[in-house]
Parts: sequence; C-alpha cells; structure tokens
Amino acid sequence: MAGHGIIRRYREFLPVESDTPIVSLNEGNTPQIETRNLVNALGGGFHLFIKFEGLNPTASFKDRGMTLAVTKALERGARIIVCASTGNTSASAAAYAARAGMTCVVLIPEGKIAYGKMAQALIHGAKTLEVRGNFDDSLELVRELGEREEIEIVNSINPFRIQGQKTAAFEVCDDLGEAPDMHFLPVGNAGNITSYWLGYNEYRNSGRTSSLPRMMGWQAEGAAPIVRGEIVKYPETVATAIRIGNPASWEKAVRAAEESSGTIDCVSDEEILDAQRMLARTEGIFVEPASAAGIAGIVKSHSLGVIPEGSRVVVTVTGHGLKDPGVAIENAKSKSTVVNPDLTSVLYAIGLG
Ligand code: F0G
Repeated sequence: MAGHGIIRRYREFLPVESDTPIVSLNEGNTPQIETRNLVNALGGGFHLFIKFEGLNPTASFKDRGMTLAVTKALERGARIIVCASTGNTSASAAAYAARAGMTCVVLIPEGKIAYGKMAQALIHGAKTLEVRGNFDDSLELVRELGEREEIEIVNSINPFRIQGQKTAAFEVCDDLGEAPDMHFLPVGNAGNITSYWLGYNEYRNSGRTSSLPRMMGWQAEGAAPIVRGEIVKYPETVATAIRIGNPASWEKAVRAAEESSGTIDCVSDEEILDAQRMLARTEGIFVEPASAAGIAGIVKSHSLGVIPEGSRVVVTVTGHGLKDPGVAIENAKSKSTVVNPDLTSVLYAIGLG
C-alpha cells in the first residue's frame, strides 16, 4: 500500500481499528537517494543515502505523525487541534486539520519562523498566534490549553505523533533491505530521533531486520541543550526549525543515542549553511537549514574518522529548502545578473562574450 499514506501501509504497527476514520494526504513513501557526488566530495569511503522527507505533502517529515495524531483526535471527537511550533508542525497541523474539517490553532515564536511555513499556516486557515517568546514558551501554553476536553495537542508530546513518525525507519529498512549502520538526523524537540529509534527497534523485534543503527543526532550550536546538559534559555540559530532550548523528548533522545552507541552533538550555523549549499550543488537536493544540520554532522563525523570504511549511512533531511527562501538566497552566495534583452548582453553575462 505504498503511496496511500503511512497508516494504510503500516497499519499492523499502528494503533488503528478497521473503522478508524483515517485522515491522510498520502504522506510517506519518500525517496531514499544514494548520493555519491557528496561522498566523493568528502573523500569517499562510505555509502550515503538521503531520506528526502521534504517531499511529503506539506514538505516536511511532520506529516507522518500528523496523519495519525489528527486521525486519533477525530476518532475521539475532539474539535480543535493545537500545537506550538517552529513552523513545520504548524504547517502540517493546519493542512491535516483542513482535510479533517477541524479547527487548528498554532502558537509560533514571533518573527522567528520561515516565510514559507507562515504561508502554509495562513493559507490552510489555522488560527495563527505569534507568541512574544520562543518555542519553549509556546509549548508551555499549549500544555495548558490541552487540559480542555475539546482540544487535542498535536505536538510530539502526543504519543500518536511518535507512532506515526516511526514509519520513516520502516521505510528506510524496506528500501535498504536491512537497517543501516548509522542514522544521522537533526534534533530539535527530539521527537524524531525518539521515533526512529522506536521504529528501528520494532522492526528488529518483529524479525524484519536483524540489526540496529547507531543514532547520530545533531543540534545547532546556539540551541544545543542536550549537548550542554542544561536548558538554553535564549536559543539562537539560523536553523529556526530547531531553535529550541528545552526539548520535550530530551531523556528519550539521550537514551536512543546511548542504547545505540551513537551520539548527540552540535554544529555551528556556518557548518549548517555550508552543508546546505554543498548538498544543493553536488546532488541537486534542496533542504532547509535545520535539515542541513544532519549533513553538517556527516561532514564533521567523516573528518573525525567516526564513519567506518564501507558503512551504510542514512541521513534524514527533514524539510524542503523552499520553506525558507530568505536564508537560501542569502546562502547561495551568488547573485542574479540583470541583462539587456539582446544576445550580446546575455553572452557577455555568461562569460561567452
Ligand atoms: N528538522 C526540521 C525541518 C524541523 O522542523 C524539526 C522540528 C526538526 C528537524 C527537529 O525534529 O523536533 O523531532 O527533534 N520542528 C518542530 C516544529 C519543532 O515545530 O516544526 P524534532
């Protein structure tokens, strides 16, 4: 049932009944692309596969968890879904709420979400509140709102979000025929690393795979509470999607890294932007800055000799680059050229004059 959404494809692993009213946009089944150019640019020595989650319906991995969270909210009769977000969860919640005919309320940090994500919340008709504070403040408010019976929280503190997102690990294994040796991904609120680790374990326990990957999570240097071991009160990073100082799934993320002999580390904004540009230029894959944190993690790990020769590495790129056009245009480090409408001008401008 690939292509019909993650609930139909993996329903035996998910908490749904035959009469559960599935709310889906046919999310999941995203491409896993082997990227030899990038590996060669780094000096070679391993196999790298990019799980391109920016090709989900709302252009981020959040749709996997959202289809299940909204489905379950509808099933129990909630009328309103609410979330705090750095932009992608709100975009996804807004779209799935529209599909389900529910009301959606999103709380986002004022002035700190990417342009494309704001467009998504507004066009899908979510009640969009910009909080004078950061993501962590917004999540606190959402926890309080969630006390009301008619409201369902669709942040990853809702266990159905984690259940839905674990299907990405299933797809990785189905595509590779086995679990990879290492799995790299960005870490913000830490729901996704928790989900992948759950998914890899369930697949191994069900006998579909025989091994588990090392989980390699990456925070941004200015928003790296897990790496530092303390809450970051004023997180700052160009990767606004992971601008989080007190992740909800903190302990679970630490456990995933420890149990898998992996790590949670951080990369600088400069490393993130370099990785975004390098991926776009060597492979034609355009991701948002937060997603490039995982790529930067690979660059760093490879340079430190942490990636064993010949290993199979998967990296999840979590959101599409078009989400954040402002950062991309600045980061491209090249400008367009205005020309007169004649061939001489065009030839001159492209260096053939
Ligand atoms: N990458 C992107 C593009 C994200 O939007 C997020 C989280 C992450 C990585 C980190 O994933 O939180 O599961 O560790 N975005 C959330 C949001 C916080 O509100 O959209 P995580």
